[in-house]
Amino acid sequence: MSMPSAATGAALACLLAFAAHAETPRLGQPISAAELARLPRSVFPDGRGLPPGRGTVADGETLYDQRCASCHGPKGIDGSGGHLISDGAITGPDQDPAINNYWPYATTLWDFTRRAMPMNAPGSLTADETYAVTAWLLHLSGLLDADGVLDEKTLPAIRMPNRDGFDWIDARRP
Ligand code: HEC
Repeated sequence: MSMPSAATGAALACLLAFAAHAETPRLGQPISAAELARLPRSVFPDGRGLPPGRGTVADGETLYDQRCASCHGPKGIDGSGGHLISDGAITGPDQDPAINNYWPYATTLWDFTRRAMPMNAPGSLTADETYAVTAWLLHLSGLLDADGVLDEKTLPAIRMPNRDGFDWIDARRP
C-alpha cells in the first residue's frame, strides 16, 4: 500500500481543519407542528390526502372572478396565464389541452390549485375555497351542475373525460 505524499497529507490536514471550524450556511431550521399543519398535503388521484371541506359552484364563481379571472379570462378562456377550458382537441396540429379535455383526475386539479394558485399568492386558498373554485372549473368543463357541491367524498367521484388517455408507468422499484 502506498503512503500518501507529503503534499496530499498537507491538503488533507487543511481540509479537516476547515471542516472542523467552518461555519455552516445555516440554510435550514426546524419546522413547528403548527407550520407543518398549514402546508398543503399531497392529494393522490384516488382522493387520499384531501382535507375535509366543502365548496359550491356559486361560491367558486365569485372567488374565480376575484382571484383567477385576471390571468385566466372570465370563463377560463383567453387569459394571459393560459386558458383553463378548451373547445379544441388534445392531439393533432391544433392541440389545445386544458382541464376539460386533458386532466385525468379532479383530485390532482384540486391539489395543484391549492398549492400553486393563484400564481401571485400560492397556498393562500383555504380548503373550502379550493373546493369551491374547483367546483366552478368543473362546472365550466360540463362535469358538474350549476347547483353542484364538492367535498372530500364527491370530488374523487368525478370522472374526468380523459381519465383513460394516459399510459401509466409503475415507478415502484422491483
Ligand atoms: C397572476 C396570474 C395568475 C393568477 C391570478 C392565477 N393563475 Fe393559474 N396559472 C397562471 C399561469 C402563468 C399558469 C401556467 C403555469 C404553469 O403551467 O406552470 C397557471 C396555471 C394554472 C392551472 C394549470 C393549467 C393547466 O392545464 O396546466 C390551473 C388549474 C390554474 N392555473 C388555476 C388557477 C386558479 C383556480 C386561480 C385562482 C384561484 C388561478 N389559477 C389564478 C397564472 C395565474
